[in-house]
Amino acid sequence: MSGPEQEATPEWVWVPKAAGIAREAGARLREFFAQGVETEYKGDVDLVTVADRTSEKLIRSRLAEAFPEHGVYGEEGTRDRLDAEFRWYVDPLDGTTNFAHGFPHFCVSLGLEKRAAGLNSNQDGTLVAAVVYDPMRDELFTAERGQGARLNGKPIHVARTPDLAESLVATGFPSRKRHQSPNVHFYQEFTLRSHGVRRAGSAALDLVYVAAGRLEAFWEFNLNPWDTAAGILLVEEAGGRVTDFAGGHFRLDSREILASNGLIHAELVGIFDAMFAGRDLAPIPTPQEFAALRAARKAG
Ligand code: IPD
Ligand code: CA
Ligand code: CA
Repeated sequence: MSGPEQEATPEWVWVPKAAGIAREAGARLREFFAQGVETEYKGDVDLVTVADRTSEKLIRSRLAEAFPEHGVYGEEGTRDRLDAEFRWYVDPLDGTTNFAHGFPHFCVSLGLEKRAAGLNSNQDGTLVAAVVYDPMRDELFTAERGQGARLNGKPIHVARTPDLAESLVATGFPSRKRHQSPNVHFYQEFTLRSHGVRRAGSAALDLVYVAAGRLEAFWEFNLNPWDTAAGILLVEEAGGRVTDFAGGHFRLDSREILASNGLIHAELVGIFDAMFAGRDLAPIPTPQEFAALRAARKAG
């Protein structure tokens, strides 16, 4: 049994209604997923489907009913009341590439920011509420600032693993401008130094998996506020840490995010620092070197 009463403490202000909205949008995604949808392209390689648009439309109208004063900033183009004190960052379907291929790992992500009067458009407010819903597993991740983080109503906490060598970590790659991303080098290095790197295709789920202690850390280049807003608050409320790659203050437009259980954060920042300076890369054979070794082995 689950329902709003199981998903939030009585003091929670925004999560009860937002959770209902995320569940409703998630149910629509599940229907689209079952029936299959046609994929279109936004630009060269960025996929979008009728499910992304329908979900955003639904969330936009439900948020307007539930919180008429609040602003909404959605991936599929919603820009409502951006001068409001509160602003929802909406990813109506995080994991579109998975969704389009029938890979059942995607979610709805709603993050609420409180913006003090007088903030410039390039300044962040405070993240105050978060809801991430995975409709395929019926998992609802919720948080409000100062109230802790929950999964289907039960408190969650980041993992207590003290070092990278014993950690499972995650990353993601952009669909656009992949030739300009250095991330595969970081993927390689973290693979060599940890229990492994998952690349599951939903940044919002990656973040909430850090919050739930299923992953020790997550990093990615070039995410947008709708990918990260909810997950960041969930990580922080679950006892973890979120910064840029240098360990500095994270901003919603930082274009780099490093989230962890806190305990391994300094070690991760050290690796980013060393790699950006061109130091400490563990050697692995090139395909050519490997082919030569393989040929030598075959020859006896
Ligand atoms: C994407 C996913 C993916 C990440 C990409 C995002 P979308 O969001 O979060 O995991 O690697 O950078 O753009 O397009 O599926 O909403
Ligand atoms: Ca996304
Ligand atoms: Ca999306």
